[in-house]
Amino acid sequence: MKKTYKIAVIAGDGIGPEVLTEGIKVLNRVAELDGSFEFEFTHFPWGCEYYLSNGKMMDDDGLEQLKAFDAIYLGAVGFPGVPDHISLWDLLLKIRKGFDQYVNIRPIKLLEGAPCPLKDISRDQIDMLVIRENSEGEYAGAGDWLFKGQPHEVVLQTGVFSRNGVERIIRYAYEEARKQGKSLTSISKGNALNYSMVFWDQVFDEVGREYPDVKTHSYLVDAAAMFFVKQPWRFEIVVTSNLFGDIITDLGAAIAGGLGLAAGANINPTREFPSMFEPIHGSAPDIAGKGIANPLATIWSASQILDFFGHDDWGKEVLNSIEKVMLEGEVLTPDMGGQSSTQEVGQAVTGKLNIFL
Ligand code: NAI
Ligand code: MG
Repeated sequence: MKKTYKIAVIAGDGIGPEVLTEGIKVLNRVAELDGSFEFEFTHFPWGCEYYLSNGKMMDDDGLEQLKAFDAIYLGAVGFPGVPDHISLWDLLLKIRKGFDQYVNIRPIKLLEGAPCPLKDISRDQIDMLVIRENSEGEYAGAGDWLFKGQPHEVVLQTGVFSRNGVERIIRYAYEEARKQGKSLTSISKGNALNYSMVFWDQVFDEVGREYPDVKTHSYLVDAAAMFFVKQPWRFEIVVTSNLFGDIITDLGAAIAGGLGLAAGANINPTREFPSMFEPIHGSAPDIAGKGIANPLATIWSASQILDFFGHDDWGKEVLNSIEKVMLEGEVLTPDMGGQSSTQEVGQAVTGKLNIFL
């Protein structure tokens, strides 16, 4: 009996549907080669277009509908005409929070053949895993907008750092560092954020006492940004807050092949709810509809889906295939200096997949 993985597909806006089509192709080819499992994809039309005709980004019982799936595969959401805070809060953040996907895993790894803007860097010098807090912090949505539009208006945006929230993400990161036998770096900002980040640093030390075997470092986020560019080899496993993680992983993407290559997994570690896999880039309205979006980030997140289901060998094979295509350098989208289409790149990666059994 074949195992069936039920995947909810939210292609979303802009280049979302274009890149996701290629990710699905790769997953289907893997299943075909393996033979012991298959994917069943169910498409949801949610996103900005849906909002413009229905007044909401997703159905009211959307989370209820998604619960039944083994994973969610997301393209991108956001498009001119719908304010970004609405598209983000009413779809993406609703799912991340509603399904307690409190771990955001973003690999920053310089694959073979990937373009790197840094000088004199070897592949093994950029190989990190950023673990971003994904449920609270600066994205808690706590605040107020008082006296709106008046000269004395006041805006408050409060970071929320609960002991439970901070402890569980830091513990997750220590576990990962121990499992991989790597160092763990915490990125915070205790000098300026005198409550939240002092607390973060304290919890990092406290939890660390249970992991004497894990080597640790702690950097202020501004210094970390500098080291990402100057000495990226300092970082192996990285743990950081929601906002800092968002920012430094775009920087990480830039040094490891560009936004078109960066993937992210939103994980609910207890597996009570489905986890969600996505490229970290947005809907790229400037190139949407042209068929030139780079699908490699979305294909990398397909590899994360395979890892998540315990098919790590296939996850690795997908990355190998991405590397082969980049090394050959003949079939690449314009952002990587090529002239090929989204579809051609997806096809090229699919064609490289091999049975390794
Ligand atoms: P973006 O990531 O969509 O685009 C930034 C730049 O990178 C653009 O020049 C774009 O053409 C390029 N780019 C991005 N992905 C690419 C790909 N796969 N291949 C080739 N080039 C690529 O970020 P931007 O422009 O700030 O945001 C556009 C919209 O996307 C906004 O509505 C924003 O809110 C939304 N957004 C959604 C995210 C999500 O769904 N997870 C994440 C980030 C932004
Ligand atoms: Mg981002």
